[in-house]
Amino acid sequence: MAMAYFDSAADRLRAAQPILEKWAEELAHILGRGDIGGALRITLIKHNTASDSFRLQTGRHTGFLKLFNKSEEGVEGYRRERMALVALKGSGVAPRHLAHCDADGFVLSEFIGGRTLSEVISSNNALAWTRRLGVWLAKMDAKAPAEPCRGNWAEYLGRYRGLAPLGDIAGAEDALYEIPLCGMALARCDASFTNWMVPDMVTLKGVDYERAEMKPRGWDFVLAYQALIARFPEHGEALLEALADGFASQHRGALIADELSYLARIVLCARLEHKQAA
Ligand SMILES: Nc1ncnc2c1ncn2[C@@H]1O[C@H](COP(=O)(O)OP(=O)(O)O)[C@@H](O)[C@H]1O
Ligand SMILES: [Mg+2]
Repeated sequence: MAMAYFDSAADRLRAAQPILEKWAEELAHILGRGDIGGALRITLIKHNTASDSFRLQTGRHTGFLKLFNKSEEGVEGYRRERMALVALKGSGVAPRHLAHCDADGFVLSEFIGGRTLSEVISSNNALAWTRRLGVWLAKMDAKAPAEPCRGNWAEYLGRYRGLAPLGDIAGAEDALYEIPLCGMALARCDASFTNWMVPDMVTLKGVDYERAEMKPRGWDFVLAYQALIARFPEHGEALLEALADGFASQHRGALIADELSYLARIVLCARLEHKQAA
């Protein structure tokens, strides 16, 4: 007889319990900033195939703990999440890293209150939030670890899977040859709207770095545009203008918002054409 397996919140809690119990005292100590003897209240917020996310509370202190499983995806997700939160500590763009444990695969960070961007963004306010997203992207670009690289966007995208050949899009290949890569930088690589918290309804904090990796600078801008246009197609190009406007208002470096906008438009075209051909 086939066994049924329910991947329920109860199963997840059961698996996480021994690990969280083992570390409860240390976690309460770190969260309570040295206060002794506080109980730790643990609430499961979300789970996916690689990780479980918990709210931790002791007294008036709250933290966010992401526990990764030992699957290949979980191990890789942990490595990326930890690396990114450590690298972005003090940047203001991400929750502050508080602690991590390599052996058990968890990261503890500051708890960001409020709702996710997904809950607050709607067609009525999409352009205002898009502009704020542009500001966040520029701050992330300024704070993320980066390294120099050579090449241009035509060469880079030419090797990218899931895109139609640039030669199929009028003028794109020649234009992108003229846009140099401005270095590699840590990119979050996940523009789901649930991955931004809006603690005060104005600023954004980016969460969820389990896919973070070094990408040509500007890559998160390209992905943000794809997510925006998929959800609010009725706003079309105005989304790109708002994103570039927010980005340019904050950015002080070598990336040019107009070039990023052009790039984002071409990647969208190449993706749609590839999908149609498939
Ligand atoms: N530091 C944080 N503080 C408060 N809530 C958070 C924090 N990080 C993530 N969250 C919430 O938990 C959810 C799951 O976390 P996330 O890292 O996105 O995991 P997943 O990989 O399952 O999407 C997020 O969508 C967000 O609502
Ligand atoms: Mg997420």
